[in-house]
Amino acid sequence: MRHNQVIDTLMNRKSIRKYKPQIPTDEEIETLARAAQQAPFAAQMCSLLLKKGAPDTPYEAPLLFTVCFDMHKLEKIMQKRGWPTKSCDLCLLLFGLQDAVLMAENLVIAAESLGMGSCFIGAAPYLAKSISKEYKLPERVFPIVQLTVGYPDENPPPRPRYPMDYFLFEDRYPELTEEMINRATEVMDRGYLAQDYYREGDYMVPLENGRKETYSFNNYSWTEHMGRKWGQWTPSPDILMEALQACGFDLNSGKEKQ
Ligand SMILES: Cc1cc2nc3c(=O)[nH]c(=O)nc-3n(C[C@H](O)[C@H](O)[C@H](O)COP(=O)(O)O)c2cc1C
Repeated sequence: MRHNQVIDTLMNRKSIRKYKPQIPTDEEIETLARAAQQAPFAAQMCSLLLKKGAPDTPYEAPLLFTVCFDMHKLEKIMQKRGWPTKSCDLCLLLFGLQDAVLMAENLVIAAESLGMGSCFIGAAPYLAKSISKEYKLPERVFPIVQLTVGYPDENPPPRPRYPMDYFLFEDRYPELTEEMINRATEVMDRGYLAQDYYREGDYMVPLENGRKETYSFNNYSWTEHMGRKWGQWTPSPDILMEALQACGFDLNSGKEKQ
C-alpha cells in the first residue's frame, strides 16, 4: 500500500467518543464547513446544522453537526425560475443522501487534518420531529445523520475492516464461499475482541423477546452486534415514513399527474 499524508490521515481515523472541552474557534469551524461544502455534489441538496458547546451533546462533544437532506432551499431557487419539482421524493431522497453523506465525510476528514476527531450518530431520522422543532426546520428538510466533533481526549486504535476479498469485487460480484464468510467473520470479531471494543464501551445490544443472554464481553463482538441490531430493530417502516411525511416528503407517490 502507498502512503502519503492524506492516505495516512484516512487510515488512522477512528471514531472519537471522548472529547476535550475546548470549543474549536470560529475560524476552525468555518474551515470545517467550507471543506465539507466543497465535496462533490449532485445538486447541493443538503444543509449543515450546528450546535456549539452544548453540555447535552452525545459524548459531551463541543460541536454537534446535524447533516440534513434539504430540498427547501433548492426548490426556492427552482420556483424563482418557474420550475415546480417533478422528480419523485424517493429519487430526491436518494440523490440528497448521496450529497449529504459525501459532504459529511469531507467534514470528518477536514476535522482529522486539523487534529480534531469525530463520531457519527445515526439515529437522526428517528429524531426528526425533535430535531425539526429544535432547529425550526422548514418543510422539505430531513435530518440524515449527526456528527460530534472536537479535540480528542482518547486515542483508540483504528478499527478492523473486512478482508479485501469481501469488499472489492472486480468485474463481477463473486459467489461468497463458506470460507470467505468465515474469514470475514473471524477478521472482524478477532479484531474487535483484541481491542476490547464492546467492554470498553460497556455496550451490548440487549436481546429481545425473552431470549436469554449467553454472551459476555469475552466473546461478544462485531458480527454478534450487527446481528442483534439488524436482526431485531425496527421491522416496520412506519415511523420513518411518518417522520418523512411530517417533514413534507411522500415516498409513496409520484408526481406524474401534477
Ligand atoms: C451512519 C453512521 C452512524 C453511526 N452511528 C453511531 C452512533 O449512533 N453511536 C456511535 O457511538 N457510533 C456511531 N457510528 C460510528 C461507528 O460505530 C463507527 O464508525 C464504526 O464502528 C467503525 O469505527 P471507526 O469509525 O472508528 O472506524 C456511526 C457511524 C456511521 C457511519
